[in-house]
This record gives sequence, structure tokens and C-alpha cells, in this order.
Amino acid sequence: MSDPRLAQLARSLPQLRVLTAADDLAHYGRDWTRRWTPAPLAIALPATTEEVQAIVRWANQQQVAIVPSGGRTGLSGGAVAANGELVLSLQRMNRVLDFDAVDRTLTVQAGATLHAVHEAARGHGLIYPVDFAARGSCSIGGNIATNAGGIRVIRYGNTREWIAGLTVVNGSGELLELNRGLIKNSSGYDLRQLLIGSEGTLGIVVEATLKLTDPPPSSQVMLLALPDMDALMQVFALFRSRLALQAFEFFTDQALNHVLAHGAQRAIDGDHPYYVVTEFDAADEPARDAALAAFEQAMEHGWVSDGVIAQSQAQAAALWRLREDITESLAPRRPYKNDVSVRISQVPAFLHAMQALLTREYPDIEVIWFGHIGDGNLHINVLCPQDMAEDAFIAQCEHVTRLLADTLQRHGGSISAEHGIGLVKRAYLPCTRSAAEIAMMQGVRRVFDPNGILNPGKLFVRD
Ligand code: FAD
Ligand code: MLT
Ligand code: ZN
Repeated sequence: MSDPRLAQLARSLPQLRVLTAADDLAHYGRDWTRRWTPAPLAIALPATTEEVQAIVRWANQQQVAIVPSGGRTGLSGGAVAANGELVLSLQRMNRVLDFDAVDRTLTVQAGATLHAVHEAARGHGLIYPVDFAARGSCSIGGNIATNAGGIRVIRYGNTREWIAGLTVVNGSGELLELNRGLIKNSSGYDLRQLLIGSEGTLGIVVEATLKLTDPPPSSQVMLLALPDMDALMQVFALFRSRLALQAFEFFTDQALNHVLAHGAQRAIDGDHPYYVVTEFDAADEPARDAALAAFEQAMEHGWVSDGVIAQSQAQAAALWRLREDITESLAPRRPYKNDVSVRISQVPAFLHAMQALLTREYPDIEVIWFGHIGDGNLHINVLCPQDMAEDAFIAQCEHVTRLLADTLQRHGGSISAEHGIGLVKRAYLPCTRSAAEIAMMQGVRRVFDPNGILNPGKLFVRD
């Protein structure tokens, strides 16, 4: 190890696994954004909390920045290491540590994948309800650091609702046990909640105690084709009033075309501009009748032009695939991603304002819409034309995002609903948070991490 700082790390932690090969630096130095060239100093793969603490103390002594790293499925550049940072990967700390049947909690190391958490909960007859397409590779630590949302928020809320306790190493290397699984705890500030959504800037999550719940009743999955944008929220209001919704997701015909080109099967014939995949409780005949009645009423109003109800688990999975495969089908095009939210009541007006803006600003550029419309969360993915240089494309997208941020501000929305700010959206944080709020957040950061070694450059333009 020629770098003297790494030599020092090896002397103080001889058992620590450290990678410095070029392909490892490239692999661990990036996330799904693919916009920055990875250039980390090295990759540390600790196996214990004590090793994590020792690495943080070393980083303070040597003034090396640390990038906490989970599955690197992030879409905001939060786990990117492009400036000689040490990537601290939680990959080896992936064990399920404990299940408590009385508390109905599961304690896991932060590197456990979301899928492993789902499986462990299911093994005890319960569920961990946060869910989304990256489940196989994202880590629970990354989910906590981004306060991940996903496709079940409408029923269960974001990751924040499901964290009973956290074990965290702060920027000085101290170990914090936050909330310890308590349901009621009015003993001052809830530091656990500060850590959730902090994008690796306040501490490194090493363990989490997750709340579990009963599985939902058996459900049905329906795909709906809609004739226009206004119908989206009309159908949502109708379905929400009649059915117990587990999910209500939308996408456009353009999104569908990419998923079909990626290998999925068309489920509804004809051209329709908008689609909804919805899942709802359907344990008995009255619930299934209510769903059919809601569908028929939507057809009568002209809000729905066609629809299909899955008749088997396999069909339900095929319908979900049309929504869940969008990200992967677009990935080779390295889309510029906006991930915005407004209150549900603001969605109709915001959709119109946004459509006018995007049509005007991206006349010859493909823009794909999809997302968690039932939560007021829209994903807008802009695709670089084949003949456009990437720099020019990004510059144009940044210009439009500035206008989008103004529109969001007028509608009281947020520049990041669920992906986090990371590198991608840090310039737009002031459209969602006031100057006073940002100053307070930076003050909190200095308390947790006095020397600013945890993920500097992320979340804020200036630390
Ligand atoms: P990473 O990308 O590794 O890191 C994300 C951030 O967390 C970084 O800032 C990193 O420094 C920090 N971090 C990671 N681990 C720790 C730790 N142990 N302690 C402290 N900080 C840490 N997101 C949604 O919210 N909803 C979706 O529906 C959704 N769908 C997706 C679908 C696909 C196909 C893909 C590729 C991504 C999707 N995402 C979604 C985005 C992403 O999966 C989530 O943000 C996820 O929570 C990131 O987890 P990760 O382990 O990959 O984190
Ligand atoms: C999704 O809802 O599919 C995710 O947030 C991923 C994305 O926005 O690409
Ligand atoms: Zn999403």
C-alpha cells in the first residue's frame, strides 16, 4: 500500500479488508447516476462496528473524507466517491441479528439487503412493508440514510415510520444507541429521526431495529388505461374512497414503450396516454365486487378507457413488472432524473403547470413520467437525444430544473420526494428549505461530525 494514510490504516487495523484495485475503485465509487467518474482513495469493508469506529477515528486523524456505502442503487449521487474519499462499504455487515416476537422487531446489520429483511420478516409470519424495485441490491442502511419510499407508501408510509432503533457511529467515532426499540420515548430530541434521511452526513448506521407488522389481507392487482391526465386524480379519489388501497402507481405510454422494449408483455391493447397499476385488499367477495363497481363507475365517467384484473399471482407480477421495470429499462440511457413531490391536493394543478413547462422547455427531448401519484410523488426522467453531447444535455436539464424548482416552490412542494439530495440536487435545496433551515441543518451536521469527514459535498453545496 503506497499511500502513507492507507499504510497507517493497515497498521492500526491489520484485519481490515481494503481494496485498491482499479476495477474495485470504479465499482464502489459510483451509484446508479453514472454521471461522475469514480476516484476513491480506497474501499474499506469492515466486518464489525469496532472496525467502523476505528476507521472513522483514522479518517479524523488523517483528514480523509468517508463515503458511507450500501448497495449504491441511489439515484442522487449520495454514494459517489469522486474526490479521493475512502468508501466505507457496509457490504460485509449484512447479518440478521435478532427477532423479538413480543416487540415484533427485527434487528439487522446495516448492510442487509431490503430483500433479506423481507425474507427474514416473512419467516416469522410478519412483513417489513417498505418495498421497491431495488430490493435485491439496496441495503437497509441506504434505505434509512435516504428515508426511502417506494410502492407501498400510500398504505405504510416511508422508511421513517419503521425504524424502532438505530446504532450509529458519528463523525468522531462515538457509538450512539438511538431509541433502543422503544415505542414511547419523550426524553428529549429524537436523534434517530435526525439520522433518517441524513444521507451519510451525520453518522454511519451500523445496526437497525425495524418494526414489523401483520401481512395485509389477500389482494388484487388491476391495470387501468386512462384517456387523459385529469383522469389520474379522479380515478385515485374514487378508488381511495371505495377500496383499501395498498398501492396506486402511474406511468405514461412512453414509459410503457421502454418497458416493452426491455422484454415485458403488453397487457392492454391500443394506445392510451396514461396507465395506473393499483393493488387493493380483496380478501372476500364484497371487496372484489366493490373493486369491479369502482372500475365500472370510472368507465362510465370516461376516466378509464380499459382495464384488466390479474387472475393469478403470475399475472399480478406481470402487471407490476410494467411499472417496476421502468428504471432498469431507462438505465442504459442514463436519464436525468427529477423526483418531486407536492401535497396530494396540489397534484392536479401541479401536473398542468409542469406539463406546460416541460412541453415548452424540452420540445425535442423525450421526457418520461411515472411514479407514486397517490403520494403526490412524480418521477420525471429526461432522456438525452442520441445526437446531443452529454454536457449540453445536463446544462439544459439544470436550466429546466431551476424552472421546475420555482414551480414546485409555488405549489409548496419538494425537490426530492424519496431519492435524496446527494450531489444531483444540492443546488436546488434552497427551493425546498429556507436559509434558516439550511443553516440549522449545517449546525446539526457540525455537532455530529465536527471535522466534516462524513460524506462532505453531499446534500449541501458548501459544508
Ligand atoms: P446507496 O446508494 O449505497 O447510498 C445512498 C445514500 O445513503 C448515500 O448518501 C450513502 O452515503 C448513504 N448510506 C448508505 N449506507 C449507509 C449507512 N449504513 N449509514 C449511513 N449512510 C449510508 N428509492 C425510493 O425511495 N423509492 C423507490 O421506489 C426506489 N426505486 C428504485 C428502483 C431502482 C431500480 C433503483 C436502482 C433505485 C430505486 N430507488 C428508490 C433508489 C435507491 O434504491 C434508494 O435510495 C435506496 O434506499 C438506496 O439504498 P442503497 O443501499 O443502494 O444506498
Ligand atoms: C421508482 O419509483 O421506480 C423509483 O423511485 C426509481 C426511479 O425513480 O427511477
Ligand atoms: Zn420512486
